[in-house]
Amino acid sequence: MTAVDQENPKVTGAQPAGAGDEQAAATAVREMFSAIAPRYDLLNHVLSMNVDRLWWRRAARTFRDVLGRPGARVLDLCCGTGDMGLAVRRQSPNPEIVGADFAHPMLRLAADKTAGRNFRVIEADALRLPLHDASFDLVVSAFGFRNLANYDAGLREIFRVLRPGGEVGILDFGEPRGVLGVVYGFYFRRVLPKVGTLISGVRGPYSYLPASVERFPDPQQMLGRMRAAGFQEVSWSPYTFGIAGLYRGRK
Ligand SMILES: C[S@@+](CC[C@H](N)C(=O)[O-])C[C@H]1O[C@@H](n2cnc3c(N)ncnc32)[C@H](O)[C@@H]1O
Repeated sequence: MTAVDQENPKVTGAQPAGAGDEQAAATAVREMFSAIAPRYDLLNHVLSMNVDRLWWRRAARTFRDVLGRPGARVLDLCCGTGDMGLAVRRQSPNPEIVGADFAHPMLRLAADKTAGRNFRVIEADALRLPLHDASFDLVVSAFGFRNLANYDAGLREIFRVLRPGGEVGILDFGEPRGVLGVVYGFYFRRVLPKVGTLISGVRGPYSYLPASVERFPDPQQMLGRMRAAGFQEVSWSPYTFGIAGLYRGRK
């Protein structure tokens, strides 16, 4: 359990500094990502030393069986500029992919990157998706779910849009333990916010990042929340010593 969880055992969702309620949290998150959109891809690759590409690919590979289903439909939730969905596309030409995000400038970039790849993007809040019940075989979300103002509501919404037998894959940062945890913690809390602020030219988002990871439920708690939302066969697989990890579950 993190210090944040000990103080507040049931964290509702992301809470950027100064955001007093869920609506304010969502607005702050949307404004942050809209502001950093022009430099987002560059910063991702620099700050992760390109490991982000391996994580997206590894997560996408995990779902090859689902992707092979006839008429498969995939939702890339909180798609940002579209890299998770594009990693899915590289695994299979088969599925129709929908990317959803509520930050317009991120979506505009996603629309350019995904054009002509049977990949439609929609501007939508992950907590109120304008999508039919039971209409997707797979929902993937990379580094986005952690930013939702209400994690349980987010899981319920994912569950709602999945077909029976459909799968969810939530890829997000974790907090590695041991010596690596100490070294990585220094990089993540001290170095990354400075470099992120310098390159993006925007103060705030790259300090919010480590704070949001610290606030995010640990794997056992997340798996409990996924079960409570109705998911079965839930699991968490650490990536790169737990710096990131993939949550999976089946409806
Ligand atoms: C860190 S970026 C991740 C983007 C992309 N998935 C990736 O792997 O690079 C997080 C994205 O989640 C989006 N997001 C956060 N909360 C959201 C919400 N409630 N509804 C829709 N999008 C949301 C942000 O706008 C942002 O584009």
